Amino acid sequence: MWGTWLGSLIGGGCAAPVAQPTWRGEIEPLIEARCAGCHSEGNLAPLSLDSYEAVVEALDPVVYAIESRSMPPWGAAPIRSYRYDPSLTDDQIAAVVAWAEAGAPRGSGEVAAEAPAAVEQPSLDRIDVSIGMSDPYTPNGSEHNGDDYRCFSFPWPSGERYITGFEAVPGNLASAHHVAAYIVPPFQAEIVAAFEASHPEVAGYPCYGTAAMDGWEPASALDELQQGLVGVWAPGVGAVRTPRGTGLEVEPGSTLVVQMHYYTLATDDPTDQTAVHFQTATEVDQVGYSVFWLDLTWALSPTSMQIPAGAEGVGYAYRAPLQELPGLSLLAPDLDLTAPVRIHSVMPHQHLLGRSIELTAHHLDGGAEPVVEIPDYDFSWQRFYEPTEAVVMAPGDELEVSCVWDNTAASRAEAGAVPIEPVDVTWGEGTTDEMCIAVLYATN
Ligand code: HEC
Repeated sequence: MWGTWLGSLIGGGCAAPVAQPTWRGEIEPLIEARCAGCHSEGNLAPLSLDSYEAVVEALDPVVYAIESRSMPPWGAAPIRSYRYDPSLTDDQIAAVVAWAEAGAPRGSGEVAAEAPAAVEQPSLDRIDVSIGMSDPYTPNGSEHNGDDYRCFSFPWPSGERYITGFEAVPGNLASAHHVAAYIVPPFQAEIVAAFEASHPEVAGYPCYGTAAMDGWEPASALDELQQGLVGVWAPGVGAVRTPRGTGLEVEPGSTLVVQMHYYTLATDDPTDQTAVHFQTATEVDQVGYSVFWLDLTWALSPTSMQIPAGAEGVGYAYRAPLQELPGLSLLAPDLDLTAPVRIHSVMPHQHLLGRSIELTAHHLDGGAEPVVEIPDYDFSWQRFYEPTEAVVMAPGDELEVSCVWDNTAASRAEAGAVPIEPVDVTWGEGTTDEMCIAVLYATN
């Protein structure tokens, strides 16, 4: 009581009195619900934040991470509302700052009545297909500052027509940094089989931004690997669900490629055996498509995207009506581009030197609608963002993806790029190349 009354006197304003937050009262429940799930023994996150002592010992970085909104990891600017956004509210952030400024009082009173809820996560209703690595794999990150990117391929079970949900079950949470699942169509199954065959010593093959093998040069631009991205997982991300009544179509004879990004320096034993689960349907009301939104010129002629050694703030953008994306009619044959197209979720994608990426819908009847903005891009935290309201593209509306990169020594060091000394960079599949793609999940 006294504290509250004094607080209002000292605050001097007419706003409602704010009690001094304490560890027992507000902070412990918040850290417990929003941080400790990742920041505890056996997880990838470096600090343990599971006790008062541990949090106080790391007080400065904890407050910095919370105030700068870099934790919990989310990445998207608050320009519109998204499902499953774990960001703290302004009040929660202010409470942590006030608590730290007051000397991080432990407090002895009651726990605040309304403990913050853990972040809601999607889950599968049932598991229809479960596919796992047949043997454990021991990642080796010695060539890339602790990172190992590896793809494993599996025949997609015949008879499973539409994917309506995806979930990764990492075998080792201390080394699995992210998991991506791609579907490669049957006419390219042999290409993936050749990737596997060229690395017979251990399962899988090295890959990086996509399902294509690191360093692979397609015989012609038309041979570029066609792949649909089904879902991604990163720490803290649950299942990926397609909106009700929709599903991604999988052609019989397709190949599933599971890409693992391992980070090997957080544990003595990075050995992993991951499985992926799918929910499927035999029919859907609306077929959904995974569309890669990019300027195909970049991919067909990699030097058309130049990021010179030492350059800072290099930007490229691609803006066009949906129907102008070459190949869209091949990849999404039943998507009717003369009718409205709904974009349900977006995964922005660059590589290590990417600093920011934005996707904007430009409507013919005026007005730009921001879809997603990643102001401080981090390769390790890619995910799908699902606007609460789908973005509706009328025929003729334009979509624009724009990216910025830094290729300075400082930026390369921060991103863990190899080599640290800047070299000229262009578009490409490898860790040392760059990309600028918005992966969309779209239906009519
Ligand atoms: C979804 C998992 C997850 C959640 C939730 C999470 N973190 Fe983290 N955090 C990480 C990982 C992983 C790292 C390691 C750096 C990286 O990979 O970006 C990290 C790094 C940090 C760092 C160290 C930054 C540095 O580079 O030194 C701090 C401090 C931190 N987190 C605080 C928090 C706080 C406070 C919360 C809750 C508000 C929180 N984190 C929630 C996963 C998480």
